[in-house]
Amino acid sequence: MHSGLIQVCDLHRLHCLPKEIFGTRDRGRPRRAGADALFRKADAVWYGKSRLGIFPDSCHYRCQGYFALRNGYLGLPGSAPLQQNEGGMSALFTPFRIGSLELSNRIIIAPMCQYSAVGGCMIDWHLIHLGHLALSGAALLTVEATAVTPEGRITDADVGLYDDATEAAMARTLESVRRWSDIRIAVQLAHAGRKASTEVPWKGGRQIRPGQPNGWQTLAPSAIPFDEGQNPPATLDREGLKSVREAFAASARRAARLGVDGVQLHGAHGYLLHQFLSPLSNRREDEYGGSLENRMRFPLEVFDAVRAVFPAERPVSMRVSGTDWMAGGWDIDQTIEFAKALEAHGCAAIHVSSGGLTPAQKIPVGPSYQVPLARAVKMNARLPVIAVGHITAFDQAEAIIGTGDADLIALARTILFDPRWPWHAAAHFGAKVKAPDQYLRSQPRQYRDLFDIGH
Ligand SMILES: Cc1cc2nc3c(=O)[nH]c(=O)nc-3n(C[C@H](O)[C@H](O)[C@H](O)COP(=O)(O)O)c2cc1C
Repeated sequence: MHSGLIQVCDLHRLHCLPKEIFGTRDRGRPRRAGADALFRKADAVWYGKSRLGIFPDSCHYRCQGYFALRNGYLGLPGSAPLQQNEGGMSALFTPFRIGSLELSNRIIIAPMCQYSAVGGCMIDWHLIHLGHLALSGAALLTVEATAVTPEGRITDADVGLYDDATEAAMARTLESVRRWSDIRIAVQLAHAGRKASTEVPWKGGRQIRPGQPNGWQTLAPSAIPFDEGQNPPATLDREGLKSVREAFAASARRAARLGVDGVQLHGAHGYLLHQFLSPLSNRREDEYGGSLENRMRFPLEVFDAVRAVFPAERPVSMRVSGTDWMAGGWDIDQTIEFAKALEAHGCAAIHVSSGGLTPAQKIPVGPSYQVPLARAVKMNARLPVIAVGHITAFDQAEAIIGTGDADLIALARTILFDPRWPWHAAAHFGAKVKAPDQYLRSQPRQYRDLFDIGH
């Protein structure tokens, strides 16, 4: 099944991969005896250098063939066979299931805050924004970080799902979107913790202190501000923890009533659940701080509370930061442990992003820069993995799925820039996408079978 051929790009070969495995040419035959250990050594060096940002950005996704082959060789999860050339089928356009949620392809629209709500309520902008993305051909549309309490909003203009008014506003938007598109829809439930109470990004994103217009007292696991000079958050006590857990559950009940296909919990980007996970923001001395088990406790309790009230046949997933990009912070090894714990609690999928916990982070941003994190989770846990971050090219996305780095890819800025990216990707790979009846005449002459009109 496994050919034993390893293809790597010159830079990876020269800089990190042991000659014992790869020889001095791009292609070599690993010796079976002792190869497992050598592969692991190569990985350790690769991840180490990758974390330090030593590889040129353009290099990252060219070596994904190495990981697929090596995974197959070691018999690890993530050893999905290359699918691109099997019967000419694009891996990106093969269906997938998250729990019992059927997805027509592997493209997800990542959650994107619009900072345009009024009193937590969606407005007509959200219908325009979600409406046009719903026509994109992606399989799943994730509604932006949706606050479970008013003080859990990043800004005063965040969407919420914490009372009847916010629920009714979201219901109106989703009803209109659904009338015209059968895209699957998930909602990201969030609490910003110490990163709440800020200006909208296009006004600078600064913290607004309590007592100032649109400002309030923030909450967190420990009274450590996000940035120097900021008003520190208040430490959540037992009552506070209970009330946040219940708020997540209450919002999940509302989401269930709205008929959304799934819920994603925001455990990434330095927001409340991530603040509990990272030793840099969690200095608690009770059972919610200290050891990894203790730091995972509150996010897992929130997960359980949501899972318990959201309909069992619909998936609840978690978005995480795979690393804080900071020494002494949350890292990929802890993320893997968290993924395993989530899996044991019934989590349907994990969406691997990174960063956001501290302004001191140093992120080696570039194409596919977070994919190694997704891949590491995929290799060590069994739940479906979503990769995200600087995925812009069709072949890049195909390689991530085809080599088994992740099960799904998510797009944010890419799909804002080109809301028909999935159409263009399908045309590129000779696959099919759904298009609304009103747009069927737009099918280009050279792509006669692009639109799936079997309805
Ligand atoms: C306008 C905008 C809003 C975002 N809002 C959210 C959000 O609500 N929740 C979240 O988890 N990530 C949010 N993100 C991060 C994206 O989901 C995504 O992880 C990130 O932009 C990297 O993907 P990309 O390179 O395809 O943009 C946002 C990104 C953008 C550009």
